[in-house]
Amino acid sequence: MLAARAREVIRRCRLLAECSEEPGWTTRTFLSRPMRAVHGDLAAWMGDLEMTVRVDAAGNLRGVYPGLHADAPRLFIGSHLDTVPHAGAFDGVLGVVLAIALVDLLNGNRFPFAIEVVGFSEEEGVRFGVPFIGSRAFAGSADAAVLEQRDIAGVSVADAIRDYGLDPSSISAARAGANALGYLEFHIEQGPVLDSLGIPLGVVDAIAGQTRAEVAFTGAAGHAGTTPMRGRRDALAAAAEWIVAVEREANATPELVATVGRVSADPGAGNVIAARCSATLDVRHADDAVRRAACERLAAEAQEIAARRGVDLAWTSRLDQPAVPMNAALVAALERAVSRAGAPVHHLVSGAGHDAMIVASRMPAAMLFVRSPGGLSHHPDEDVVEEDVAMALEVGRHFLDQLS
Ligand code: GLV
Ligand code: MN
Ligand code: MN
Repeated sequence: MLAARAREVIRRCRLLAECSEEPGWTTRTFLSRPMRAVHGDLAAWMGDLEMTVRVDAAGNLRGVYPGLHADAPRLFIGSHLDTVPHAGAFDGVLGVVLAIALVDLLNGNRFPFAIEVVGFSEEEGVRFGVPFIGSRAFAGSADAAVLEQRDIAGVSVADAIRDYGLDPSSISAARAGANALGYLEFHIEQGPVLDSLGIPLGVVDAIAGQTRAEVAFTGAAGHAGTTPMRGRRDALAAAAEWIVAVEREANATPELVATVGRVSADPGAGNVIAARCSATLDVRHADDAVRRAACERLAAEAQEIAARRGVDLAWTSRLDQPAVPMNAALVAALERAVSRAGAPVHHLVSGAGHDAMIVASRMPAAMLFVRSPGGLSHHPDEDVVEEDVAMALEVGRHFLDQLS
């Protein structure tokens, strides 16, 4: 019976993956047009279970399955609904669709706690360069600075919220109430560990910290044919030298990962020396001290390269998110649930960021990983195994039983 449920979860995830800003790909950023269709489908599925559904002022979709009593505490289960460009069908969405399937499995039976399914509006940081807009509002930490961030077209987070028909001045009302029991997030692993061990599920102990920054080199434009090589102030060449230094730093520091995922050069013509080049930086490590020390070295290298090449450097910090441990009691409950479901218990640290790391500041939080075949994620071929999804549902059921 759980096999059929798991198949339906996968079918729904693939259906939602068709809601995209780009035909032929899955690309869905914060409150973009296709998010409406995703909200519509998820709201309909929750409505079928007689859940009360709303979209909060941060664009988070929230559906409540009541507990035995009106004043029952609340267990939140969720993940995010936005995607990276050219994403797969499961990063984020699986956790929301699986939560709804879990409520469906209850067949109308009530617990001494309510269950609220949350589909966070933004976790990836693609549109505004800052991640976790939805979960920050949920945790009560979305300040004015978050609302003022602008996308490439100059649209602010507050504008995007208004354009979606919501009221950014009510964002504080998105904060979870004080009667929270905790937060559970199902998510694909997005890495190769479980697959290489042949294990379906993983219990997350902690989530690695991350730094994000925008690093801009400004030199001088010039004619590609007539400007002598000596004396050029080529912003793109400066950025390129630094990008290689970023890779070298990560290779030299155990367990550190560092990525420049996007560069943009101006004015952007093949026969013009680049006057400006801006690059994103993403650095992660489970130990915050190691991560911060690496970032300091990367900033010093950028300064040295810029000075030697006669270009200016501007370093804009976008995120300094410390590593976050998951709640010990919920981790233990999850571990027991995995055992009861008959799966091997394997603990791991998440290299990827997750809404759980933000929600953990507001309430106890835990995460269960579902194996990623081939370790593939942030890739259109991202996948899950039907039996693993069925096992995750079984674990979810045991987890709810324990909490009650
Ligand atoms: C989210 O997927 C992140 O870790 O960047
Ligand atoms: Mn992701
Ligand atoms: Mn994710």
